[in-house]
Amino acid sequence: MTTAENDEAQSGTLSPEGGARTENELAGRTFHIRTYGCQMNEYDSDRMAEALKAAGMTEAAALEEADLVLLNTCAVREKPSHKVVSLLGRFRPVRKNLRPQRFIVAGCVAQHMKDELLNQVPWLDVVMGPDAICRLPDLAARAFRGERICDTSFARPAGYRFPLARPDTVRGRASAMITVMKGCNNACTYCVVPRTRGRELSRPFAEVLNEVRGAVSAGVREIMLVGQNVNSYAGGCTFAELIEKVHGVEGVQRIRFTTSNPQDLGQDLADAFSRLPKLMPSFHLPVQSGCDRILERMRRRYTVKEYLAKVEMLRQARPGIALTTDIIAGFPGETEAEFDETVELVRQVRYENVYSFIFSPREGTPAALHEAEWGRVPHEEQVRRLEKLQTLVRDISLEYAQALVGRDVEVLVEGPSKTRPDRLVGHTPENRTVNFQGTASVGDLVLVHVESASSNALTGRQKDS
Ligand code: SAH
Ligand code: SF4
Ligand code: F3S
Repeated sequence: MTTAENDEAQSGTLSPEGGARTENELAGRTFHIRTYGCQMNEYDSDRMAEALKAAGMTEAAALEEADLVLLNTCAVREKPSHKVVSLLGRFRPVRKNLRPQRFIVAGCVAQHMKDELLNQVPWLDVVMGPDAICRLPDLAARAFRGERICDTSFARPAGYRFPLARPDTVRGRASAMITVMKGCNNACTYCVVPRTRGRELSRPFAEVLNEVRGAVSAGVREIMLVGQNVNSYAGGCTFAELIEKVHGVEGVQRIRFTTSNPQDLGQDLADAFSRLPKLMPSFHLPVQSGCDRILERMRRRYTVKEYLAKVEMLRQARPGIALTTDIIAGFPGETEAEFDETVELVRQVRYENVYSFIFSPREGTPAALHEAEWGRVPHEEQVRRLEKLQTLVRDISLEYAQALVGRDVEVLVEGPSKTRPDRLVGHTPENRTVNFQGTASVGDLVLVHVESASSNALTGRQKDS
């Protein structure tokens, strides 16, 4: 087993001889990537696929058929982490019986567990962190040679180059994600992300714009800028200025971004919503709790009052803007009355949607270390609070959706609907999902007449089709 556990590793390309040898070893083999977690992981999976294809591999449709299985994992809550270990367990017999099948665990569980994961899973070949993507072909080739490797070093900021997406990867998609920064410098007490993604590093804006132009040339119409903390973007301009630059790229029709921490949300970003029509009227602003004492314990650096002022600022800037949020239920020490403050906040803000989670203690985080001292909320109570919240959220979401029945909405066409392949699917500017009958092509902007609504999707018919 080899481990690279220092911060010396550099990103970059392989040496020519190493590259040629790697390509010979990988050519003709197949891979399959399964992705968990957030948009950053989805983006990284595309880069990993590109790296393997460039080394001569091809994509297998199913995990069972692939020579190389890659799991790109999420560690934000305990359940997703368990999923990975149990999935690896399920594949133990496959690994034993098949040809030279190899397994790689990438992403945040890999970065969090490091070589402990190699120790726990004897048939696992490679554990690699998010900064090792540029070395993937080499790691894969070494795995086929029989090596077991843990590569979870963080790259030094000065030497780090963000992998550049190939336009071909997004061909046929209406929307493309583009990473603008990596890492997170905050220290929310419940969160594992700063450990799994390291310090913040912004991507120079010229590189972002290059990637935007490439995506547009491949037919993409919507750009989603992603980072754990986009408000602190510092790649040669502010985040609001970056949006303005993307807005200026010919062919871009819609711009979205995620995620934005309320503490760093300033007037300049709100103003961008007033000035830039291609910036879509939806904003994900994770609040986590509606109680100041809990926010302080979470080390979220805003009060409920300050948060509400930012909501007001956004609504002033773009009336009708659709707000969504994240909430943690049953944080250590949270009383019933304090949770009710969160419910009250949701009622007051009337979010279009809320992503709510039961608190999950993550190893090594302050909230996990202090859980007993602060007071563990019993699991049944956490579930009860979550359900109470979700019922309210569904009701509000349904009200928003029903108000659209009988109206025409603008939809960017993304392709056939997954649930009803005879229909098309797309999203409204406010980011509501619309399943509809129509004849449009991927990337078209069409008007859809809404005929019915549920809390999670609208159903309708394309106008004039
Ligand atoms: N950078 C984003 C959040 C990324 S993690 C932000 O600051 O808003 C996505 C969401 O997962 C968080 O907003 C939070 O609601 C949830 N989450 C993170 N850690 C968690 C934990 N330990 N238990 C439960 N939910 C958690
Ligand atoms: Fe985690 Fe907080 Fe960073 Fe978001 S801002 S990724 S919740 S530490
Ligand atoms: Fe999960 Fe890592 Fe994203 S922990 S939420 S995949 S940054």
